[in-house]
Amino acid sequence: MARHLITSAIPYINGIKHLGNLVGSQLPADLYARYLRARGHEVLFLCATDEHGTPAELAAAKAGKPVAEYCAEMHAVQARIADGFRLSFDHFGRSSSPQNRALTQSFAVALAKAGLIREVTEKQMYSVADARFLPDRYIEGTCPNCGFDSARGDQCDNCTKQLDPTDLINPRSVISGSTDLELRETKHLYLRQSALKDELAAWIDSKSDWPILTTSIAKKWLNDGDGLQDRGITRDLHWGVPAQFEGAPWTGMEGKVFYVWFDAPIEYIACAQEWVDAGKGDDWERWWRTDKGADDVTYTQFMGKDNVPFHTLSFPATILGSNEPWKLVDYIKSFNYLNYDGGQFSTSRGRGVFMDQALEILPPDYWRWWLLSHAPETSDAEFTWENFQASVNKDLADVLGNFVSRITKFCRAKFGETVPDGGVWGEQELTLVNALATRLAAYETLMADKEVRKAAGELRAIWVLGNEYLQSAAPWTTIKTDTDRAAMQTRLGLNLIRFYAVLSQPFIPDAAAELLTAMRAEGAPWPEDAGVALAALAPGHGFAVPEVTFAKIADEQREDWQTRFAGLRG
Ligand code: 2FM
Ligand code: ZN
Repeated sequence: MARHLITSAIPYINGIKHLGNLVGSQLPADLYARYLRARGHEVLFLCATDEHGTPAELAAAKAGKPVAEYCAEMHAVQARIADGFRLSFDHFGRSSSPQNRALTQSFAVALAKAGLIREVTEKQMYSVADARFLPDRYIEGTCPNCGFDSARGDQCDNCTKQLDPTDLINPRSVISGSTDLELRETKHLYLRQSALKDELAAWIDSKSDWPILTTSIAKKWLNDGDGLQDRGITRDLHWGVPAQFEGAPWTGMEGKVFYVWFDAPIEYIACAQEWVDAGKGDDWERWWRTDKGADDVTYTQFMGKDNVPFHTLSFPATILGSNEPWKLVDYIKSFNYLNYDGGQFSTSRGRGVFMDQALEILPPDYWRWWLLSHAPETSDAEFTWENFQASVNKDLADVLGNFVSRITKFCRAKFGETVPDGGVWGEQELTLVNALATRLAAYETLMADKEVRKAAGELRAIWVLGNEYLQSAAPWTTIKTDTDRAAMQTRLGLNLIRFYAVLSQPFIPDAAAELLTAMRAEGAPWPEDAGVALAALAPGHGFAVPEVTFAKIADEQREDWQTRFAGLRG
């Protein structure tokens, strides 16, 4: 049994996330956490809301609420929806927590002690019309790298380049749209990332097993000459972790807060403290401090590709630069984008299907299955309603659902609602069990490797094997001539349901639980040996015919949804 720390990129607080956000971090992280727990490992799976910075301030202003109130409300909303998708976080924290404030400030002090903080008086964009300095996201303009016309002051969404607001061409205020901007003097703290460049490069180079998507983005920003520039880690905002505090080794930072991308990843650690303070755990340091046992922990992060520079360079710079014994990430699993029906999902424009809407129309397993089996790993992927309908109907209803319904109903009709006795496995059954054992091993390897799409494909193939067996063994025909053999075939079919439920649990937890309840096999362990697992339900064991596990999506339903989600969310 090993110890696994898993974090998902923490979603911004401003509004409900869309399915593209979900499949890029929280959902595959949940898949992995569920799999490792099922294999008996000790798992700490953390996520939180990313509550600071301009996105929160802008959204609160739009909602006409004080920002703290807005964040508290939205945190509750996001927590409820995460629950709706069965995201099994051990704790869903908040980056605005007191724990994160203290930890962020203590990291800043440690970095200063290490000589890695510079105080810089610089000229910054000031909006005359808005009578205030404009930090990063309050400014938009054209990306100097790719020409995208709505690049934000901190990063271009199109090419992922990290930017400074002054890099933008034709900058404008997001608050008023005013282009009457001028540079005025103000003081900020800079993190001397450049001093850590060699150490970071060596660390990234040592990660030969990381996905190419992760390392290629990291290397791009390391090697293009400006990726590891020293970065301003404070902003002229009120909402955030105060940059002037008791014990701070600087003065004159009143009215400024730390940059949201400085405190957000620190929340991964603070979240573990929140977990303990909420009474859900008793020791966070054994997960995070290498001097307190965290050397034994395997730490995996999940995120979309736009987050990769911050997790491969900025956050490790904070950790390494602190000279304190914090755990560094062991594996970064990153994802490309999921597009929506010929365009991009967009939170700001309300384009696509959002997590709350998805749950209004179908239970979570339908979405989990489609999203995970189409995870944008090697390239961007696209959600279309036709593809969603086809996958759900085929994989879930025809293959898995139909198998369950046929065998349980047949057994009830011919043998009653208990596992029937009689007969022994023959050639056909041994061949099936061998094939399942091979596929089970492949599935386990893919899950351990976080190959999400391929693992879904392997699971589907495992379901298909059972269907093919049932089709060719045809107990409904066998029973006419050989009751014992039909009983044996049916017994194996019922055991397959239990086997499928256990293996499918990380992907479709509700259906898996429903099947295990129907088979009276709650808590069934992960199969160590396919042959043994497929004989676990012995003759005489009772079961119930489950309700329809998966309903097919009708063409009219699909068309309705297509129309409903064609426009932009109001
Ligand atoms: O892209 C996002 O949604 C960011 N809020 C992710 C932050 S991840 C981390 F740094 F905490
Ligand atoms: Zn760009």
